[in-house]
Amino acid sequence: MRWRLLSIVVFGFLVGALGGAAALIITQSASGPQVKTSGKALIGGPFTLVDQTGKTVTDKDFRGRYMLVFFGFTHCPDVCPAELQIMSQALTDLGPKASEVVPVFISLDPERDTPAAVGAYVKNFGDKFVGLTGSPEAVAAAAKAYRVTFSKFEYKDNSGKSDYSIDHSTIAYLMDKNGEYIAHFSYGTPAAEIAETLRRYL
Ligand code: NI
Repeated sequence: MRWRLLSIVVFGFLVGALGGAAALIITQSASGPQVKTSGKALIGGPFTLVDQTGKTVTDKDFRGRYMLVFFGFTHCPDVCPAELQIMSQALTDLGPKASEVVPVFISLDPERDTPAAVGAYVKNFGDKFVGLTGSPEAVAAAAKAYRVTFSKFEYKDNSGKSDYSIDHSTIAYLMDKNGEYIAHFSYGTPAAEIAETLRRYL
């Protein structure tokens, strides 16, 4: 008898607990954050940075032109140079229409990437590139707007000297003449494919 009573009590408790949990889930989903379906992609937004000539530029300075945006850092050993080379090639493939597109490189390493350093770096990929850097806060804000993640990590080089590098997102973004997101290209997308996509939107 005692066991039976106990099992009824336990069963009753479980039903009550599950019911409570279910009610909690329903309440949470009802009051949880609503998914925004405005149709606008949540990539891109305002930024205020400094270009390779030392001039302050904002996203608004690019209105009327398309932006092909990539975030990285000039000390990057492989990913950044490879991707910037691809972007440069894509614009060459595009032909005369490329004049409507500004390739933009935004540094995630403001500590080392002065405007002059960024300028010297982007020159390696042609004379069309705008290289941007800024204060750590300004760079972080730009990265956040583009959903770009990055993290600095320390390491010791072959001679035992401490140095740092930066892990970062490797997506290139195509923004329209109003600064709105159109498309993105994952790392290593062939130049011809990028050119074809650009051609479709220009
Ligand atoms: Ni890189």
